[in-house]
Amino acid sequence: MNGPAGTRLVVAGVFVRAGRLLMSRRPAGGAWPGLWELPGGKVEDGETPEEALAREWKEELDAIPVGLSPFHFSTTAGVGPEEFSRHITLLFFEVIGVAGEPRAVAVDAVRWCTVAEAKLLPMPPADAPALGRLLEKAGGDVFEDTESEKGRDLVRALASRSPFIENSESLSSIRALAFRKPRPNGDGVVSGLLVATPDGARAYRNVCPHVSIPLDRGGEPLLTADGLFLVCRNHGALFNPEDGFCVAGPCEGESLVPLPVIRNGVGWALDDGPAR
Ligand code: FES
Repeated sequence: MNGPAGTRLVVAGVFVRAGRLLMSRRPAGGAWPGLWELPGGKVEDGETPEEALAREWKEELDAIPVGLSPFHFSTTAGVGPEEFSRHITLLFFEVIGVAGEPRAVAVDAVRWCTVAEAKLLPMPPADAPALGRLLEKAGGDVFEDTESEKGRDLVRALASRSPFIENSESLSSIRALAFRKPRPNGDGVVSGLLVATPDGARAYRNVCPHVSIPLDRGGEPLLTADGLFLVCRNHGALFNPEDGFCVAGPCEGESLVPLPVIRNGVGWALDDGPAR
């Protein structure tokens, strides 16, 4: 986005957890390749700076910053190679919580830096003033945390509203999990089971066709020991993971009610379309 004076508006986030500052390394092919920066990117037309930061972190780090407040700004012109020498206004936001664990998706690498490391890493000139302020605040060897209990509360609130099914990124190893999520159409909350199959994840309401109660009675494995069937821990009914059909037990021949799920990043989310 171009500002009124022809400057390019860029945003970046400052997030410190356990005394370490989150930084990312710029990829090859753009300005300042290989240099370390506070993660962020350009503000696109029609976006607020806060929206741009959330989008950039999601695209680059697969994580969403919450609880943003202005921290610092800097400007620069003509500091880069000729082709990158336009004027930039860089807005830095303090971030008090992050939904998801930042990882290198569209950047070269991410790093949680100590004060000593951050002082040594090469970075673009426009990031240096913000780092200088952080080092002043640190007043020693450890950065002051920006993450706070309020930020963690915001992350929990975000997770409860999101259709993303928590822990579904681990489905290939854990094979099945129980969840409670608001329905995407706003029609209440649903208790479900998510199970891995060779054709992707399938989800069902966590209600047994035999008696309308959850299949798991609190923490028991959702699959049989051989991993072949979903099992109702009340009276032992067995269900095909692929279609929810009951193959043995008091509700043999009936089926679990399917729930629509779709791929969402590294995991799965409830959908509002028809179940497969
Ligand atoms: S409640 Fe599931 S088998 Fe009886």
